[in-house]
Amino acid sequence: MTGLRSDEWYGGDDRDGYIHRAWMRRGFPDDAFDGRRPQIAIANTASDLTPCNMHLDEVARSVKEGVYEAGGIPLNLPVVSLGETLVRPTAMLWRNMAAMAMEEMFRANPIDGLVLLGGCDKTIPALLMAAASVGIPAVVVPGGPMMNGMFRGKRMGCGTGVWQLSEEVRAGTLSKEAFLASDRSMIRSKGHCNTMGTASTMAIMAEALGMTIPGVAGTPAPDARLLEASQATGRLAVQLVKEGRTIADVITRGSFTNAIVALAACGGSTNAVVHLLAIAGRLGIDLTLDDFDRIGAEVPLLVNLQPAGEYLMEDLFNAGGLLAVLAEVRDLLDPTPITVTGLPLTDYLDDKPIWNPEVIAPRAEPLIEGAGIAVLRGNLAPRGAIIKPAAASPHLLRHRGEAIVFDSIEDFHARVDDPDLPVTPDSVLILRGCGPRGYPGMPEVANLPLPQKILKEGVRDMVRICDGRMSGTAYGTVVLHVSPEAAAGGTLALVQDGDPIVLDVPNRTITLDVPEEELARRTPPPALVEGFASAERGWQKLYIEHVQQADTGADLDFLVGASGSAVARESH
Ligand code: FES
Repeated sequence: MTGLRSDEWYGGDDRDGYIHRAWMRRGFPDDAFDGRRPQIAIANTASDLTPCNMHLDEVARSVKEGVYEAGGIPLNLPVVSLGETLVRPTAMLWRNMAAMAMEEMFRANPIDGLVLLGGCDKTIPALLMAAASVGIPAVVVPGGPMMNGMFRGKRMGCGTGVWQLSEEVRAGTLSKEAFLASDRSMIRSKGHCNTMGTASTMAIMAEALGMTIPGVAGTPAPDARLLEASQATGRLAVQLVKEGRTIADVITRGSFTNAIVALAACGGSTNAVVHLLAIAGRLGIDLTLDDFDRIGAEVPLLVNLQPAGEYLMEDLFNAGGLLAVLAEVRDLLDPTPITVTGLPLTDYLDDKPIWNPEVIAPRAEPLIEGAGIAVLRGNLAPRGAIIKPAAASPHLLRHRGEAIVFDSIEDFHARVDDPDLPVTPDSVLILRGCGPRGYPGMPEVANLPLPQKILKEGVRDMVRICDGRMSGTAYGTVVLHVSPEAAAGGTLALVQDGDPIVLDVPNRTITLDVPEEELARRTPPPALVEGFASAERGWQKLYIEHVQQADTGADLDFLVGASGSAVARESH
């Protein structure tokens, strides 16, 4: 082990060293600051307002024990937390703020290594973005999913169950009372959403990137094995510092290949695309939308989890977890990137059987071939849009229909059930003004509920197009992340009711079939480019002025890249 970063604070016999040691001592032993014991910050997103992460203080205690056992000094560091269901207008508006605040605190404090505790959707991405921009050794403990939800004898997934049952209420096939009574059956324990939503996906991404102890992702939050793994992670964090293994040593280009393979094989959330692009941007790795399509195209869908399938995260864990999934597609993985343990991910794939082929399909019998995220381009999305074919209806993957346009989610809610809305099952619902700048914050609104009169015909899916995101717990034939967004000069702003839209997923195109000369004559509705995309002060002003488009990860332009861990000047 070379000199510790924290020794710049605690070392020396001058006045500053005195001050740093004196204020921190408070019961620590004499050797806590002798330059030999790594100071490990536990970046903790526990918060009573982030219900999915409430239990992380308990996880942190186990991490602390592990750090102590290995000779380090554990330090709890509460960081900005984001709860997906409560934070308005959308937690995504605050992901970059959380990452920026975390980054600065990681750098500003005498920290040698980091254990990153996340769970709810944006927390693991923000932690990884921040740690990547600082570059000191780091390891993730995902907080883990909740127990399975069960309602009327059937699995009820977080989010997915809400979307399904609320549609049943709108279609008149479920009473409001029964719907309202289902919430206790859905959320039964600590932990994050138990579907293959964004939180589960990002835990899996962290493991596939090499940033967790292999095998940890998906451990249910109430499972004692999570605490065991947390303790082991505390020990590992000390070892990482001693061996000088940084996040840049672990996450390389090949790690993203492995993450994209895992994303496709598990049927992970489309939100992983913006988060992985943003993490890559912090590390200076040239990851593009096309990498998702190219790498994912070879990968079969093996995991039968809601929202696209039947089961939940607890079932996946019991069926063998991510390592059993990756063992099936081992040949598609890059064997070179190491994990936080120093060994490649592929070294952990021997003897990893599938215990339940209903949950993890064997490679020979995949649920879907070529299950990756498809990247669409065309005049409607010159820089790209994405669709998750595994969550879409096969008969809609090639579709031509007339647009019905909504300029905001409020506009949609006001008109969707209007009996005079000229909508048919073949219509294409367009929702715009929901991109990073336009909303602002790129909310998860793209999985528009279907108009009531369509539901009453028994139709459960239509083509929908949006410059926003879709909840990872949602499903349907939804084209997302249209770039550039309407508020940033995208063609989406020019679409009018009745315009023909052509979706061709096999050929990767999305087209507004209106002559160029006609489009050149049109101007976007002023509210789309001016009304929403303005803010007088504060974070929203900074965000709107600097946020990038979804095709590069929706990070702020001045946060892309890294600044390292050096801090030249003293505080007193
Ligand atoms: Fe927190 Fe779904 S709401 S993970």
